[in-house]
Amino acid sequence: MSARRKFICGNWKMNGTASEAASLIAGIVGNWKDAYRNVELAVCPPFTALLEVHALVSGRGVQIALGAQNCYHETKGAFTGEISARMLVEANCTYVILGHSERRTIFEEDDVTINKKVRAALSVSLKPILCVGETLDERELNQTYEVLLRQLKEGLRDVSASDMKHITIAYEPVWAIGTGRTATPEIAQNAHSFIRMEIAKLYDDSIANAIIIQYGGSMKPDNAKELLAQPDIDGGLIGGAALDAKQFLAIADAALN
Ligand code: PGA
Repeated sequence: MSARRKFICGNWKMNGTASEAASLIAGIVGNWKDAYRNVELAVCPPFTALLEVHALVSGRGVQIALGAQNCYHETKGAFTGEISARMLVEANCTYVILGHSERRTIFEEDDVTINKKVRAALSVSLKPILCVGETLDERELNQTYEVLLRQLKEGLRDVSASDMKHITIAYEPVWAIGTGRTATPEIAQNAHSFIRMEIAKLYDDSIANAIIIQYGGSMKPDNAKELLAQPDIDGGLIGGAALDAKQFLAIADAALN
């Protein structure tokens, strides 16, 4: 068993008006138990629900961090429709998901763009959850490790060793996201161990041993335990199952053991 604390993060994607988000977080807060202090729990609602969710978490004696799902790399100015990292910090965010495969594919974000966002987040002490993962085509063409290495190297370009303690990596095989098709624990473990090994090469062993590597892609209460039991799987980035308070907390329960 590693000394790393498990980190379970809900990615709500574009789900939940502020009032819908309020009832989801109320379900999580209402069923929260003290044992969850032994894991890191976070939720990433849409921007418009951040303040509402924060209001319902703070002062309730629970430990649930807040994150956003994206940010822009510039600090302010004429960038219609964008949100800066500093705005997210003031909206009580601790984390920001960057480089999610939906951003990479639907919004055509490349590694250079993602790296700018990672550095912008770090510059205001917002902690990036950097997502990496191969598509089905890439896996079938045996390009998985090449893709992971490129996304890691480019995404972390110019990130200092001391900033690495603020980075979480999420391995999200694109073919497993929202498809109900989870990576087997073995496939996921192999990818996680590869990522850790490459981080050791890019930085050093102590950084590689300390970094949290989450798995994402159809993680559910019934497969979470087995995935989280793998030596290099330190948590989950949860989409669909995070939209149900009981399922989300059942995954947190799986992380406790
Ligand atoms: P999923 O999404 O759990 O619905 O597969 C995971 C993610 O995209 O972060």
